[in-house]
Formats: sequence, structure tokens, C-alpha cells
Amino acid sequence: MAFNELANIDKSITRRRRESLLGQRGAVVWFTGLSGAGKSTLANALEEWLNEKGKLTYLLDGDIMRTGLSQDLGFSHDDRMENIRRIAEVSKILVHSGVICISAFISPYRESRELARRVIGEDDFYVIYVSTPLAVCEGRDPKGLYMKARQGVIPEFTGVSSPYEEPVDPNLILDTSQHDIDACLKLATEMIRAAGVIG
Ligand code: ADX
Repeated sequence: MAFNELANIDKSITRRRRESLLGQRGAVVWFTGLSGAGKSTLANALEEWLNEKGKLTYLLDGDIMRTGLSQDLGFSHDDRMENIRRIAEVSKILVHSGVICISAFISPYRESRELARRVIGEDDFYVIYVSTPLAVCEGRDPKGLYMKARQGVIPEFTGVSSPYEEPVDPNLILDTSQHDIDACLKLATEMIRAAGVIG
């Protein structure tokens, strides 16, 4: 077989063919917000809901990815940009595999979320801003990180000593201090249905 033919064979399984095999559309649902806002909890609830509907999903979560793919990165502006760039590239591969990728990262910079949108593609990228106020997140402090940040033990902590730039035009805003998980999940599923991610 000629080299060119082999190259064609390598490219014959397209995104559309994978999607039709799975009977679903690949997309990214991107949760952004402060630490402790409820991103991981909501992302997990959405993944459970989609799984029950028979959809193939994959959850990418900041705390997990930072122990592997991004273990060499810290929390400076440039490191956070690089973290999100890597996550966006992985998310894109999942989309092209036909998977519904759920990403939960602080992703505090508008430019980082715009980078993710560019890498993944406008039509496949849906942003949910978990807008739970800083005071509530800090009151929860599930990992004790806010306390350490206030004590100066953890530098460049988002909301304390590093900025969080609110999304300008997210697909959905969820405040977990105003609505319980079930209510937030309902709004999230309505949004992805209206966007055509699921039928
Ligand atoms: S991001 O800013 O690059 O998007 P990411 O979502 O991957 O952050 O990781 C955030 C998690 O790292 C937080 O939930 C928290 O557990 C932990 N963390 C450790 N140091 C910091 C810090 N300086 N700022 C924010 N989160 C931190």
C-alpha cells in the first residue's frame, strides 16, 4: 500500500463517524468560578445525569489535572494560562472523539477562557459561570485554602491575592448560595438541551 493511501486510511474515521457510532454530539461544558464555588460538585452532578441518559462523558477537574498533566505548573498568570491551554487541547480531543467533556477549572482570566474557546471551537464550547460570592466560598473553605491564603501561606490565591475576571457572556450563571444542587442541575440540563448538545 502506498504511503498516501495509508495516510488517507488514518484519517478516514472522522469526528462525525465517531459521533454517529455513539449516537451523540461531542461538546465541552466548561465550569468556571472561584475555589469552593461548587464547580466540581455541579460538574459531577451533570456527569451523573448525562450518564443516566446513556451519554458518554469525561470530567476534567482542576484538582485532578494538577496532579498529572499540569503537575509542573503553579498559579502565576502564565502557568494558569498554560494549564488552561493544555486542558483546552485535551477537551478538544474528547470533543472530536464524540464525548461530552465537562471541564471544571477556576480559569480566572478572560483571555484563558477565550483561548479555550478558540482551541475548542465556538460551536462546541458552553460556559457555565458558577458565581457563588467570595464570602460564601471563603465561609465554606472545604480545603482550608482560603485560611492559608489569608495567612499568606498560599500566594496568588484566586479571590484573595489573585484576580478572578467574571465571564462577560456565559451561557449560564449559577449561584450555589441561592439555589440547591438539584435546581442548578435543572438549569444546566435545560441550557445544554436548548443549545442542542443533547436531544
Ligand atoms: S486555574 O486557575 O489554573 O484554572 P485550577 O482550576 O487548575 O486553577 O486549580 C484550582 C485548584 O487548585 C483549587 O481548587 C485549589 O484546590 C488549588 N489551588 C492551590 N493553590 C491555588 C491558588 N493559588 N489559587 C487557586 N487555587 C489554588
